[in-house]
Amino acid sequence: MDFSELIRKRRMTRSFLVDPVPVEKLDRVLDSARRVPSAGNTQGFDFVVLEGFETSVYWDVTLPPERREKFRWQGLLRAPVLVTIWADAGAYLKRYGQEDKAHSGLGNDVGAWATPYWIVDSSFAAMAMQLAAIDEGLGVLFFGMFDHSSELAEALGVPGDRMPIGTIAMGWPDDADKTMGRSASMERRPLEDGTESVVHRGQW
Ligand SMILES: Cc1cc2nc3c(=O)[nH]c(=O)nc-3n(C[C@H](O)[C@H](O)[C@H](O)COP(=O)(O)O)c2cc1C
Repeated sequence: MDFSELIRKRRMTRSFLVDPVPVEKLDRVLDSARRVPSAGNTQGFDFVVLEGFETSVYWDVTLPPERREKFRWQGLLRAPVLVTIWADAGAYLKRYGQEDKAHSGLGNDVGAWATPYWIVDSSFAAMAMQLAAIDEGLGVLFFGMFDHSSELAEALGVPGDRMPIGTIAMGWPDDADKTMGRSASMERRPLEDGTESVVHRGQW
């Protein structure tokens, strides 16, 4: 798919078919995601990939049976793949403590970082993963782990020092149910006309 078409077509999918994602397809998506740029080439992101029956571990933690029945997005529970993304701040401290980066003073303390690049890089990876999946004809939903992140980390064996970035549900979109999220109908902010604009040329 042409890139500008891909970026304009991209919307979140909240209802999936049960059909599995072919292994090679998923592998290509995951491989694209790890190719993003990262500060100091640290690559401080990890993906925990749950496929098929493994996804029940995720829902058992985040959506107990008594709440599941009334859950608004029943088609989301069918997603054949769930990828949780975790950032590794410690990897950045280690990298920026190395000889070529030590002068930055960023190798000792996460508080010294004006911008936490572990979040930036992991978010880049999350976005690349979503675009790669859509390019493969799949649908995705990026959503939060909220207050379940510690319990999820434990259930998935994620080291305790990793920061939760989010979850990507992935699979074949259920075209019979294109219900969008409440926020999705909000207008996009204009490029550069008026006080709401995103772009500020020259100065804010
Ligand atoms: C950081 C982030 C967190 C999000 N969390 C949720 C979420 O918890 N639940 C959900 O249904 N959608 C979530 N979304 C999806 C947004 O609601 C959606 O991207 C937005 O409304 C714009 O719609 P579109 O992506 O279809 O263009 C999240 C998106 C982002 C980028």
